[in-house]
Amino acid sequence: MRNWSGYVVALLLVLLPASVSAALQLIYPVEKSWVYRSDYLILKTNDPAVNGVKITVNGIDSDIMQIGSPEYRRAFQDILIVQPVWDKGKNTLLVEGFNGTQKVQSVATEIFYNPSGDTKLIPQGFIKNTLHTDEDEKLCAHCHSKTPAPAKSGSAAGSSNCGTCHVKMLKVAYPHEPVTSLTCSYCHSSSGTPRYKVGKRDAPLCFECHADKEADIKKFTYPHGPVAAGYCEICHDPHGTEFPAFMRRPINEVCLSCHEKIAKSPHVVRSSGSEGHPLSGRKDISPKRKGKELSCASCHDPHGGVVRYFLVSRSAERMALCQFCHAK
Ligand code: HEC
Ligand code: HEC
Ligand code: HEC
Ligand code: HEC
Ligand code: HEC
Ligand code: HEC
Ligand code: HEC
Ligand code: HEC
Repeated sequence: MRNWSGYVVALLLVLLPASVSAALQLIYPVEKSWVYRSDYLILKTNDPAVNGVKITVNGIDSDIMQIGSPEYRRAFQDILIVQPVWDKGKNTLLVEGFNGTQKVQSVATEIFYNPSGDTKLIPQGFIKNTLHTDEDEKLCAHCHSKTPAPAKSGSAAGSSNCGTCHVKMLKVAYPHEPVTSLTCSYCHSSSGTPRYKVGKRDAPLCFECHADKEADIKKFTYPHGPVAAGYCEICHDPHGTEFPAFMRRPINEVCLSCHEKIAKSPHVVRSSGSEGHPLSGRKDISPKRKGKELSCASCHDPHGGVVRYFLVSRSAERMALCQFCHAK
């Protein structure tokens, strides 16, 4: 037996360089992992002979993407970055490397797409991605510098290089100021484990820069439930979004996700035949939000108030609220 396996090994050694090419490497997402965004697929072929890559997600093929031209090699070497479209749940992924029309590499795996991020939904066997490891950074560092730049005056620590990869974050309609100014490391510690871990979350983080909000909220006799609990990030995305005030969804959708019942019966105006007060789709005419879209926040301060229901008029008289927008 020993002799026989020794013979196989010797044979493999002879065959290896000629017929088996270096391994194709999935960098993000890694094999059998889960993602909560459908943003990037990053791979490295590790084989100079590979000049084309085909990607098949759930049986749907891409064309063979050409990565062999001198221009391509100069800009990206053997790295390919594409935007995949995952279906919710399990996805089959097949990546094939070609030399001309000859297939020389392939990797088949499954990726679990879980946009809610709720880890309870992840089936067994799927791992979490961590991009910022020493090995991964070595592959990127010669083109993308990740050394934080010296702190800008006034900020705790600046890091101006994160934006070369995290470009999508900067392109939203309403980005948060410390994101635009690339003060990423104010919130993300480069010494944390995993790297760039967020030290503080929610109110203790937000109040460091929004002390005026903290003072306002402390004055409320009726702080709003999730605000009193300090859960700022339930409603606000810390980086910014497509919606004003970095709401995770348009204001009314955020409110109705917890107060479903409000959408089910006429609100404020309950006379017979009435469909209730308009709650969206009109322009706000109150002094504080003039010109913005009418929303729950037109009448309710989302953070709380000094009267029940956090009415923006700050008066318990119902009429005082109506008079904000309707002539006396
Ligand atoms: C050979 C140089 C090179 C290497 C190595 C490299 N990149 Fe890039 N990368 C680029 C260039 C060039 C761009 C385009 C920059 C631009 O448009 O300003 C880019 C852009 C990106 C983007 C943004 C894509 C977009 O437009 O949405 C991401 C994400 C990215 N790289 C990730 C990585 C990761 C992760 C690694 C390491 C595994 C890596 N890159 C290694 C050259 C490289
Ligand atoms: C070489 C490209 C690149 C650079 C430069 C880069 N990132 Fe990333 N980072 C990525 C990619 C790709 C991911 C995984 C996809 C995603 O979450 O967008 C990621 C993920 C992350 C995550 C999620 C946790 C993780 O490890 O997956 C954090 C937090 C993060 N980056 C912060 C930073 C910060 C802060 C900087 C600047 C100091 C930075 N990144 C610079 C490419 C890069
Ligand atoms: C105001 C604080 C703050 C700033 C500034 C900030 N982040 Fe974050 N970041 C967070 C928090 C809090 C989380 C965790 C949120 C979550 O998991 O939804 C996070 C999560 C992330 C993630 C992983 C999850 C996700 O939402 O994509 C990435 C990637 C990331 N940050 C990159 C960056 C980069 C790059 C910058 C700078 C351009 C930056 N962040 C600036 C607070 C911040
Ligand atoms: C490093 C400082 C810093 C941190 C930490 C910070 N912010 Fe900000 N934020 C700013 C700056 C600067 C502005 C822009 C100036 C302003 O409007 O106050 C801003 C603006 C905002 C705005 C928009 C204001 C408007 O009028 O549209 C919201 C909403 C917001 N931040 C929420 C948050 C939340 C929620 C957190 C915690 C996750 C947070 N911020 C953490 C610095 C910070
Ligand atoms: C229930 C959802 C919700 C929660 C929780 C929440 N906010 Fe807001 N926040 C909003 C909405 C909605 C607006 C926009 C109000 C408007 O359009 O008039 C806003 C606006 C803001 C603004 C900018 C405008 C202003 O009012 O000054 C800041 C800053 C802010 N929030 C910080 C915070 C902080 C800090 C926390 C956590 C202590 C927090 N928010 C928790 C919904 C919320
Ligand atoms: C994360 C869940 C959550 C979200 C999102 C949320 N709320 Fe609330 N809200 C609560 C809780 C919890 C209470 C306190 C318990 C109760 O009275 O229902 C509350 C109470 C209220 C009250 C007082 C109800 C009463 O009977 O005294 C009003 C008004 C209100 N919310 C309006 C809003 C508005 C406007 C928004 C959107 C800006 C919003 N809520 C978003 C959870 C939420
Ligand atoms: C035109 C002003 C106005 C708008 C817009 C408005 N509300 Fe109200 N809301 C009120 C008033 C006034 C009350 C006090 C009870 C009453 O008079 O009907 C109230 C009461 C409430 C209450 C507590 C009582 C109850 O019915 O449960 C909640 C929760 C609430 N609103 C949520 C919302 C949400 C969520 C939105 C957006 C989808 C919204 N409101 C939009 C004026 C408004
Ligand atoms: C934030 C501004 C605002 C406040 C506060 C407000 N409204 Fe309105 N209201 C509007 C707007 C905008 C319309 C739509 C007007 C239009 O389309 O011409 C409207 C329409 C109405 C209508 C007509 C409804 C229909 O079927 O078109 C009635 C009745 C009404 N409001 C009563 C009230 C009462 C009662 C209050 C106080 C409890 C109140 N409103 C508070 C802005 C407001």
